[in-house]
Amino acid sequence: MKNDILFTPFNIGKLSLKNRFVMTPMETGMAGFDGRPTELLTDYYLQRVRGGTALICTGICRVNNIHGASTPKQLSLVHNSSIPSFQMMNDRIHGEGGKIAVQLHHPGRQNYSALIGIWPMVEVFSKIPGFSKIFSPIVKSFAFLEEKIYAPPVSAPSAIPCGHVKQKTRAFKTWEIRSLVKDFVKAAVRAKRAGFDAVELHAAHGYLIQQFLSPYSNRRTDEYGGNFENRLRFIKDIIEGIRQECGSDYPLIVRLTVEEFIPEDRDNRGITLELGVQIARALEELGVDALDISSGSYEQTNKWLETVNYKAGWRKYLAAAVKREVNIPIIAANLIRSAEQAVTQIEEGTQDLIGLGRPLLADPELPRKIKEGREDEISRCIVCCQCYESLLTNAWLGKPLRCSVNPTLSVIRKESQKSEGTVVVVGAGAAGLQASLSLKKRGFHVVLFEKNSEPGGQILLADKAPDKEKLGWCIDDLIQSVTDAGVDIRRNTEVDAEAILDESPDAIILATGGVPIKPPITGVSLDNVYTFDEILSGSRFPENGETIAVIGSGLTGLETAEYILSKGKKVMVVEMADNAAPGAHFQHRDEALECLEKENALIHTSMKLTEIREKSILLENTRNHEKKEFAADAVVLALGSRPLNELEKELNGFAGEVHVIGDASGIGRIADAVEQAYKLAVRLAV
Ligand SMILES: Cc1cc2nc3c(=O)[nH]c(=O)nc-3n(C[C@H](O)[C@H](O)[C@H](O)COP(=O)(O)O)c2cc1C
Ligand code: SF4
Repeated sequence: MKNDILFTPFNIGKLSLKNRFVMTPMETGMAGFDGRPTELLTDYYLQRVRGGTALICTGICRVNNIHGASTPKQLSLVHNSSIPSFQMMNDRIHGEGGKIAVQLHHPGRQNYSALIGIWPMVEVFSKIPGFSKIFSPIVKSFAFLEEKIYAPPVSAPSAIPCGHVKQKTRAFKTWEIRSLVKDFVKAAVRAKRAGFDAVELHAAHGYLIQQFLSPYSNRRTDEYGGNFENRLRFIKDIIEGIRQECGSDYPLIVRLTVEEFIPEDRDNRGITLELGVQIARALEELGVDALDISSGSYEQTNKWLETVNYKAGWRKYLAAAVKREVNIPIIAANLIRSAEQAVTQIEEGTQDLIGLGRPLLADPELPRKIKEGREDEISRCIVCCQCYESLLTNAWLGKPLRCSVNPTLSVIRKESQKSEGTVVVVGAGAAGLQASLSLKKRGFHVVLFEKNSEPGGQILLADKAPDKEKLGWCIDDLIQSVTDAGVDIRRNTEVDAEAILDESPDAIILATGGVPIKPPITGVSLDNVYTFDEILSGSRFPENGETIAVIGSGLTGLETAEYILSKGKKVMVVEMADNAAPGAHFQHRDEALECLEKENALIHTSMKLTEIREKSILLENTRNHEKKEFAADAVVLALGSRPLNELEKELNGFAGEVHVIGDASGIGRIADAVEQAYKLAVRLAV
């Protein structure tokens, strides 16, 4: 059968895996403040084991409490006392036929002063009930004091700050490095005692071990720097220590960045693929059992955690280059987004094991669905990076990450109560579709009205920007699930209150989305004025215009600008704030701005649109209030949307529950809409 190779057993040293699926490490923010696994985290792993993943790798696990904490709710193997709780988790995973490795980690310079030195105290105070509520204010006050009085530096091989976190950085003393080696080894010993099937050393994504390996971040002149052999010494000492303490056959994996993607104009290119392969060969000689090939660092985040515009498999050449040179198993999470791609990458010799990160956040049952020939039932990861973005913000609030397509990612799954009522849902965007699906699963009779021929709402626009087609998968997959579930979808049907009530609903859900904002500016009604939705949907386009002004540089504005550029027009982006893409997650901002720069688009920041004319626009500088006219043949307004919810008033007299969700209740992200819809659907009682 076409996917059989994915389900052939494979060994990493003495570790036998039932198939080729490996969940690569992903920090989730689901551990306790004390670094122990929680019921939520255990349930999350168990779901993936039951879904057919052969090997689970935990997210980053702390080995040092003073300078080694990277995020508030990560795992920790700093204390012997936490071994029993890990043991309990691992027993349950083994009980379901799963295997689990722990990723040992130290952030080095990719860390924040606010996390230095506080962890022993956090562990003590975390025993206080309600600690998670006071954690965030405590860290904020520490950060404030550090800014005003003293910020402890983060620690690294050399005193070179990471260009992304930009923290004061000091170099480890030689004795500290030796002590750190012991920290890693002790953590590995605890891991083995706790029943982990393997340990993985995190030598990727710019963290400490990579910092030692890379000539970009390691400028030491002692035995831990200066030449290849010395830069390798830190990981070599750790590996030898683990071998000595855990035995020569305890499975040991290294996750390795083999290409840092440092821009070509820099003098020091750090780890290039050639050096990466050399390191891989050295690790094989040191007796490592498998390599998990990755790339990048925090300075090049999109090279290890791609945004939507990257092509599936774009960096598979990295794993292939290593595989040609070593004889140990190769794992790689190289943007694999289909079974066909996974099969090809094994068959062509790119890798032995299929590393999946986000696809398993999006759908924990992905391997099983492939095995059972139900690939069309998979909720595909749309590479929107909401999981990572939410992790970065939620971690400081003591909350876990979330996913745009899987509203159950961070909840312990329970069967919802069955029901038999009728619910009318109006609007088949992400919110309406998700609500319909979750309600149908509970047994409701669901009628879903959509005024357009194609369901999807605003996401249909988002996926029209160049290389963003993966975003549309979430709608395709929801439509498939909703159809399979038997929801009565009525397309091309714009309803009023009467039509809704004709269905005799017990409850009504309004998910009618939003409409673009058109501010009352002079000239806004001219023919040369467009809204972003008109451009992206193709309903109107300034074919004859040469220079197009896009007003607003939020993500929608930047994506609209990219779309217009792809049609061969010149683009000028106008932004009132002092920086482009205010409020946008840095990964999306960096990609969009790079694209605009390549295409020579002009970006005017601190400029407010005050008037639109036939062939120009008038902008006011928000700092000095000077006004200036710029030539523009057409103007595209990308100033966001406002909720569209006119039906609620019309339904005032309805005796049952009326709920407004998604953009109709307040403009938000896909994840907001899907989460809100799911939460409503599981609690709705009629
Ligand atoms: C939320 C999130 C957290 C991650 N945390 C880790 C981590 O703790 N350790 C690690 O090595 N990689 C981490 N990664 C990277 C993934 O393991 C994986 O390499 C990356 O997401 C690319 O693969 P994918 O496209 O299959 O997701 C993380 C990724 C995400 C999305
Ligand atoms: S949040 Fe987006 S990128 Fe992350 S797993 Fe979900 S769909 Fe994929």
